Amino acid sequence: MATTIEGASVAARFLEQPKRLLIDGEWVEARHGRTLEVFDPALGEVIDHVQDGDRDDVDLAVTAARKALEDSAWSRMTASERGRLMWKIGEIIYEHADELAAIESLDNGKPVGVARAADVPLAADLFQYMGGWATKIFGHTFQISVPYTPDAQYHAYTVKEPIGVVGQIIPWNFPLLMAAWKLGPALATGCTVVLKPAEQTPLSVLRLAELMQEAGLPDGVLNVITGFGETAGAAVAAHPGIDKVAFTGSTEVGKMIVKAAAGDLKRVTLELGGKSPNVVFADADLETAIPGAANAIFFNHGQCCCAGSRLYIQHKVYDDVLAGVAGKAESIKLGRGLDEGTEMGPLVSAEQLERVTGFIESGKVEGIRTVTGGRQVSPNGYFVAPTVLDGAGPGNKVYDEEIFGPVVTAIPFKEPEDVPAVANETIYGLAAGIWTNDISKAHRLIPQLKAGTVWVNTYNVFDAALPFGGYKQSGWGREMGEEVIHEYTETKSVCIAI
Ligand code: NAI
Ligand code: MG
Repeated sequence: MATTIEGASVAARFLEQPKRLLIDGEWVEARHGRTLEVFDPALGEVIDHVQDGDRDDVDLAVTAARKALEDSAWSRMTASERGRLMWKIGEIIYEHADELAAIESLDNGKPVGVARAADVPLAADLFQYMGGWATKIFGHTFQISVPYTPDAQYHAYTVKEPIGVVGQIIPWNFPLLMAAWKLGPALATGCTVVLKPAEQTPLSVLRLAELMQEAGLPDGVLNVITGFGETAGAAVAAHPGIDKVAFTGSTEVGKMIVKAAAGDLKRVTLELGGKSPNVVFADADLETAIPGAANAIFFNHGQCCCAGSRLYIQHKVYDDVLAGVAGKAESIKLGRGLDEGTEMGPLVSAEQLERVTGFIESGKVEGIRTVTGGRQVSPNGYFVAPTVLDGAGPGNKVYDEEIFGPVVTAIPFKEPEDVPAVANETIYGLAAGIWTNDISKAHRLIPQLKAGTVWVNTYNVFDAALPFGGYKQSGWGREMGEEVIHEYTETKSVCIAI
């Protein structure tokens, strides 16, 4: 594909440029002068270096964001101007789609075709969708009665104000898209941002920030601090000058964010882990359910918070579905993200490789049957064969814990009534899938599932208009849709005696 090659050469040029932090509209080096290495996960080789930002850099970024929030070209912009700017950001992302997809593929390892078809257009669309909200943020007027002042009259209403300076900490599985999910509502509501990308995948966010400057984003509205979680991330989470932290990542770190934010009770939203049930009933159209169940776990190499990692199959079709999903797993072409024909790339890092293969080993030790896969594939990159396990249950690590790799655990069930108890048998509640041709069965099950998203006869469908987030330990709050606008605004009630 010519477009892919085009994107790859532009991405290569981007890699050659020095990478800096974005603070107050200027690209600057980290105060401590350290850098960190960026790897190509398909080769396990260093391809770039970025600044290793720390507390001092976060301080400067917060000061810049505060100034931009309170007194700047940004704070004086009309809602309509903000919306138009966000539309323009979306257009510039579309114009640079090949380049951004190639950068994402190099840095994260995902197939460039997937980044081009999903990550990049979803990011562009998110900015444009959220840009529409900029002019539609409004409060209410109220007829208040106030029994203890019977003769008084009041004019009472609410105003939605930007929540303030927002710290955003994002993960490495969808680096560009997660930046868009976070930045879209912040900009729509007039907030300003200190953004920390994941140390594994900082590149596409740095390029996005350049493009946002090009679109005309005023200085200080977006500040980007690359660096490690324990240093730069922790500094963002605890910073007294930050009004809200929005985090996507592990449940473990999510709990640390909550503790760090408790110091000054800053607002927190969290999009955390999952162990999502995907339920195939015997009456499902297996021609869609089998590839659907494979896609639910293997999309993005299983590195999805909502991955359908617990596959419940009704016993009458258990063998067929298990064999079908295993067949799909075996047919997936592994390779470097930029190579043509690659359907699944490597895991993002050596650490994740170790983590995922560790889970697979624990399954073997506990006597879980490996139907297919179950091993590292290449000695160089961080490749793991798509893996199907059979016979795990409560007490097995592979059943209880989020693996975040291409590993699915299949479990049989007998009756529809058995499903809610097993499906909800997890600390998480991010997503769930149902495959059936019986619409009543689906509708009876939907309200019983403790999950923020339920997909029926489909999986992994995302849209800027559709809220996403978790029940239970999968998080606090929602991303996207109208709901996220409320997560980025404070409500001010005004009461005037007239
Ligand atoms: P992580 O939660 O450590 O990293 C996510 C982000 O948080 C990164 O930007 C990181 O720098 C930052 N971070 C780490 N420690 C921090 C701290 N103390 N304070 C503030 N920020 C901090 O996730 P990690 O270690 O990369 O992956 C571990 C597991 O987490 C995965 O195996 C997976 O199960 C889960 N995970 C879930 C994601 C999701 O989309 N829900 C995304 C990434 C990981
Ligand atoms: Mg971590």
